[in-house]
Amino acid sequence: MKHLLKMLDLSTEEIIRILDLADQLKYELKHGIPHPHLKGKSLGMIFQKASTRTRVSFETGMYQLGGHPLFLSSDDLQIGRGEPVQDTARVLSRYLDGIMIRTFEQKEVEDLAQYGSIPVINGLTDFCHPCQILADLMTIREYKTDFNGLKMCFIGDGNNMANSLIVGCLKVGMSVSIACPDAYHPAQEVLEFAQAYGDRFELTDQPLTAAKDADVVITDVWASMGQEGEAEKRKKAFHGYQVNDDVMALAHSDAIVLHCLPAHREEEITEKVFEVHAAEIFEEAENRLHAQKAVMVKLMG
Ligand code: CP
Ligand code: NVA
Repeated sequence: MKHLLKMLDLSTEEIIRILDLADQLKYELKHGIPHPHLKGKSLGMIFQKASTRTRVSFETGMYQLGGHPLFLSSDDLQIGRGEPVQDTARVLSRYLDGIMIRTFEQKEVEDLAQYGSIPVINGLTDFCHPCQILADLMTIREYKTDFNGLKMCFIGDGNNMANSLIVGCLKVGMSVSIACPDAYHPAQEVLEFAQAYGDRFELTDQPLTAAKDADVVITDVWASMGQEGEAEKRKKAFHGYQVNDDVMALAHSDAIVLHCLPAHREEEITEKVFEVHAAEIFEEAENRLHAQKAVMVKLMG
């Protein structure tokens, strides 16, 4: 494993090894055991979109590993004024030991990895959000112990979260059911990947069908970053694609609810369901820190 660009690139074994290391690093942090695996190393963090969790967890995680994080806003970098990714990649490779990038196009992340000579970590693109899904899988395993036989249901937009969850959950042995409107399906590349899993994968436009017997219920915003101009149109299109009491009544009684955050209460999830499941949702947010530290150690250690 040289980079973390998308879940499609990871083998099941690589995912499990990252999760095992993440568990260990979480234990060490909680017990005050130092783990300076990246002493003297630097991580550049390029943000072309807003962030709370990704920025703070990478920055803090890098400090906890003994390394040095650099926040690089695209407003300040020459990349924001048109310097090609190919050149930025080759320059940053001479200063840094790793790059985390949050941007729009997946191609930009792939190009950074292709032209640079240091590990690249995808901190979210329009196509996927692999760091989030590793944290989600870590959280699911904490609550449910074993992935095999579990059913994950995702209700809402077939977006970067849906794309990554489909791949990640199928790879670790779960069943996946996605409910989204016809015009908002997950990416074709991901649907083709999922076809190989036969009846372990289901795509429907009926939230209640997807929710039936689910062990893990997940949703995400109806309008992702960069889609704010379509927010009203999307509110209409996603009406009914909400995690609410009707959905939870069909899921298993011990189902957990996850949300990558930020959440829009009374849109994709009701205030009530959110608060009943806040423990899982904020554990999931915390696990971003541990999962990303594991990724950095694997790639840069
Ligand atoms: N879930 C997530 O990636 O949050 P941020 O946008 O705050 O980083
Ligand atoms: N789908 C959301 C996820 C935010 C973490 C977005 O891309 O804005």
